[in-house]
Amino acid sequence: MSMTVAVCGATGAVGREMLKVLEKRDFPLTRIKLLASERSRGKKLPFKGEEIPVEVLSEDSFKGVDIALLSAGSSTSKRFREAILRSGCLAIDNSSAFRMDPEVPLVVPEINPDDAKAHKGIIANPNCSTIIMDLPLWPLHRAIGVERVAVATYQAASGAGARAMYELIEETKKHIQGEPYERTVIPHQYAFNLFPHNSPYLENGYCEEEWKMVRETRKIFHEPELRVTATCVRVPVLRAHAEAINVTFKRDTSSEEIYGILAEAPGVKIHENREANTWPMPVTASGIDDVLVGRIRRDVSAPRTFDLWVVGDQLLKGAALNAVQIAELFV
Ligand code: A2P
Repeated sequence: MSMTVAVCGATGAVGREMLKVLEKRDFPLTRIKLLASERSRGKKLPFKGEEIPVEVLSEDSFKGVDIALLSAGSSTSKRFREAILRSGCLAIDNSSAFRMDPEVPLVVPEINPDDAKAHKGIIANPNCSTIIMDLPLWPLHRAIGVERVAVATYQAASGAGARAMYELIEETKKHIQGEPYERTVIPHQYAFNLFPHNSPYLENGYCEEEWKMVRETRKIFHEPELRVTATCVRVPVLRAHAEAINVTFKRDTSSEEIYGILAEAPGVKIHENREANTWPMPVTASGIDDVLVGRIRRDVSAPRTFDLWVVGDQLLKGAALNAVQIAELFV
């Protein structure tokens, strides 16, 4: 079976990775359509040795498309929802627009592939920090039973898009030269600084990013009461998110059992060398499909509780790769 695939937001940080992932995994397509805004009119992007022209997104863009990978922000996804549904294509949406809609499956293929079957035209790709946490957490939940999770994230610029990555580089250069820099995407000094995630704050004191990790994990795991709390922080890193995960299990376990389970887990790789003091880092996880895990240790302050250090490429498993893996479920 071979299909027409559209990548909406093709010029963005995630869109460009989607093209690379489709190419690398040799996704069976007969035609690719690249869609972006008016700003990208006239641009071309490389795909399988050809230069493909970018088309300006319109209501007609999805006609004749089998699978659309959307990564042009939630307002664009919402605006084109009806046009997508009318066209009959399957949309895999990287934005937060429909993730908590009970009619829309929220899928990580290693965790809940069967949920994808119930789609009504749209499948949501979870939040990047959620995917990176849930991938190692799920096999532990199945084998040992998770009672409570407390996570702190160290999130890269890529999560805020290509312009945020550019701003981090430019601001850093200017900062070193002692020159002022006018930011347009990132709200605070980003070079040599970090700040709590800049998504809107909710009445309960969480920011939206943190609340996504709580609610999306519950939906993906089919555990509406799962106890999850998160603190999300942006750090001046380009493209991989790190997460310190503190997890309490329903029964006692050991570091050895956890290492053993994660060594077998799909999409997860143990990455550490204690003698060399080497652990997962954003630079080692960048460009890698697997989510890297290390530093698994018993938390001496609480029973049945362990700490894990997890790092994953935000643009790959956190976004583009997961979306293409969802599409592969329909090949
Ligand atoms: P463009 O490059 O033409 O602005 P990122 O997350 O890296 O910022 O990328 C966002 C992607 O979404 C880009 O490809 C961008 O296209 C696209 N995009 C943003 N707004 C729209 C819109 N209103 N219509 C179509 N594409 C959009």
